[in-house]
Amino acid sequence: MQGKIKKIGVLTSGGDAPGMNAAIRAVVRGCAFQEIECVGIYRGYEGLIESDFEALNARSVRNIISRGGTFLKSARSKEFRTTEGRKKAYDNLKNAEIDALVVIGGDGTFTGALIFNEEHDFPVIGIPATIDNDINGTDYTIGYDTALNTVVEAIDKIRDTASSHNRLFLVEVMGRDAGDIALNSGIGAGAEEILIPEEDRGIERLVESLKKSRKSGKTSSIIVVAEGDKSGKNIFELAEYIEGHLEDYEIRVSVLGHIQRGGSPSCYDRVLASKLGIGAVDALINGERTIMVGIHHQKVVSVPLETAIKNGAKYDKNLRRVADITSV
Ligand code: F6P
Repeated sequence: MQGKIKKIGVLTSGGDAPGMNAAIRAVVRGCAFQEIECVGIYRGYEGLIESDFEALNARSVRNIISRGGTFLKSARSKEFRTTEGRKKAYDNLKNAEIDALVVIGGDGTFTGALIFNEEHDFPVIGIPATIDNDINGTDYTIGYDTALNTVVEAIDKIRDTASSHNRLFLVEVMGRDAGDIALNSGIGAGAEEILIPEEDRGIERLVESLKKSRKSGKTSSIIVVAEGDKSGKNIFELAEYIEGHLEDYEIRVSVLGHIQRGGSPSCYDRVLASKLGIGAVDALINGERTIMVGIHHQKVVSVPLETAIKNGAKYDKNLRRVADITSV
């Protein structure tokens, strides 16, 4: 479907990320600037299937730039994974005379948008928003910077109690398939060890390294463990294993969980979301279709949606080296 865009629908889908509200705000105000209508779709693809729509204007998005979460709400829709569900969604968009969709989310959101576009030839633009930073073709995703700061703040606090009690702490952070949060927060918070899904260095090495640092005079240690690490054990089993192989440490586990997804977005995420929201509307006006707007070297770039969902994890071997050298 080609032609002049007069009305854009915007939705947030998948795991929420701080800065999603700022992105919605930018899309709505970008539409106002271009004198086109904007419709908010509640609860992601669920709301698309149920026609949960509301017209939005520049005033509808006041005072939301500083708020975490997403006022449009988010969901992981099972029905949108079916052909029938997507057909319902298409019919609802047609009835509401919406010409294009801006979807704000991660790889699951983009995968759904791509299939929808293939089936119904409906213009879609993606805006990357996930704390995982696991989208290809963009240096950063919205929410990642805020999540990193939340994690570093939490680990700094854990460090205080770890060193007061001479304890070893295992701190679990999010990231089922991507170690960006673990690796960067680990370096930022001075963790002794960092376990990520992109590599398997073996738990024997981990134990040996902890013994060595204990011998060198360390009295407490922090191990940052990404959800999807390759030890083959969950964090409590891992703690038990280490306890069984390391006598002189008392061990505690702290799972940070969804605290990492909440909170007021950092200034970096607010600005990134604003740039990408405006970029998405500009892209549609300029006739671009089925792309994601991303950020590369501080510039807004267009990346085919297909590329965005491929090999998302951006494992940086140099960061691993930095972590190893600085954590002795
Ligand atoms: O994709 C974002 C994310 O927070 C992942 O890091 C995490 O594995 C997952 O979502 C958790 O999902 P849920 O909130 O559905 O438990």
